[in-house]
Amino acid sequence: MSDRPSSPITSLNAFRDLLTAYRLPRIILSALELDLFTALGVKACTVSQLAAALKVSERGLEILCRNLAMCGLLKKRGQRYRNSPFAASCLNARHRAYRGAYLELLKGQWNDWSRLTESVRTGLPVDHGEPEAPGYRRQFTWAMHQRSVDVAAAVAERVNLGRAKTFLDLGGGPGTYALAFLAKNPELRATVCDRPEALEVAKEIAATQKAGDRISYLPLDFMRATIVGQYDVIWYSNVLHIYSAEENQTLFTRVLPTLAPGGRLIIQDAFLHDREGLYPEEASLFAVTMLLFTERGNTYSLRETSSWLRKAGYTSVKPVRMKKGAEDWDGGLLQAQRPRL
Ligand SMILES: C[S@@+](CC[C@H](N)C(=O)[O-])C[C@H]1O[C@@H](n2cnc3c(N)ncnc32)[C@H](O)[C@@H]1O
Repeated sequence: MSDRPSSPITSLNAFRDLLTAYRLPRIILSALELDLFTALGVKACTVSQLAAALKVSERGLEILCRNLAMCGLLKKRGQRYRNSPFAASCLNARHRAYRGAYLELLKGQWNDWSRLTESVRTGLPVDHGEPEAPGYRRQFTWAMHQRSVDVAAAVAERVNLGRAKTFLDLGGGPGTYALAFLAKNPELRATVCDRPEALEVAKEIAATQKAGDRISYLPLDFMRATIVGQYDVIWYSNVLHIYSAEENQTLFTRVLPTLAPGGRLIIQDAFLHDREGLYPEEASLFAVTMLLFTERGNTYSLRETSSWLRKAGYTSVKPVRMKKGAEDWDGGLLQAQRPRL
C-alpha cells in the first residue's frame, strides 16, 4: 500500500492548478449557504425563477448554476436547471436522505481552515480555550451518523466478528457502527460508550431500528473512568486521531483487561501506510483537521500503532484487509488480540 498521488507538483502550471483548487469547493459552499439545492427540490427552473426564489442576482446565480452543472451537481437542459439525483436527495432539506448536520459541519470548516497559519504558529486548535457551544455535541454526533451510515453497513458486512457475543463501541458517538454490526450479527449485544450528550443522539437513532434493542449505553469519559466488564470485541473507530500517541498507548494498556482472553481490539482510522508516513493523501490531510480542531490529535502509521499495541501486551497485531470502496478509510483497519490465558 503506497497510495502516492498520481501527479506530484513539478511545474508552475501544476502548482497553480492545485493552489486554485479551492474554486469549486467555494462555489459549492455558496450554493449550500443559499440552500440552492433545497430551493430547486425536484423542479426544473430557469435562472430568473430560481433567483427570485432565493432573492439573489440573476447574474451571480447564472454563473454559479453553470459551474454547479459543470461539476455534475445540477443538470442543465436549455434554459433550465434541475438537481442531480444526488443533490435532490442528500443536499435537499426536504428529502429524507438529507445530510444537513454533516453539511453544517463541512460548511463551518471553511473559515476554520482559513486560520490554519495561526494553528501552525501556536500548535493549538482554532477554538482553543473556548467552551464547547451549547448543542455542538448533539449536532456533531448527528453529523458523524450522516457521514458513516452507508459505509458502516459495508464495513460490518466484511469485518468478521467470528463467535463474538459482546461488542464495546468505544467513543461510539451515534452508535452507527454498533447498529451496523448488530444488524449483521444477530447473536451480538453492543455497548456504546461516549459522552452523555452523544448517547442521547445514539438512543434516538437506535429507537428507529430493530437492532437497537440489543444496545446498552455507557456514559463516561473513557480516558479517565475505568470501564467495568469484559467484551469479546472492542471497536475503536475514528477516535485514535483525536488523541496523542501517549494517550492512545495508555488507553490500549488500560483497556486490555476489558477484553475477554482471546478477544479483539479493532481500530479504524486514517492510517498512514508508507515508511515516511506521508500517504495516503487523505490521512496526511486529516492530520491538519486534527491540528485545527483538537489539542493533541494527529494521524498515525500502521507501523507505529502496531508497535504501541504490542508494547501494551496485545498479540496477533495485523491489518484487516478490506475491499477498496467498502472502507471508511483506505487501509484503515488494524486488529489486535488479548492473549488467551
Ligand atoms: C469522531 S467521533 C467517532 C464516532 C464513531 N466511533 C464513528 O466511527 O463514527 C469520536 C467520538 O469519540 C467520543 N469521545 C472522544 N473522547 C472521548 C472520551 N474521552 N470519553 C468518551 N467519549 C469520547 C466523542 O464524543 C465522539 O462521539
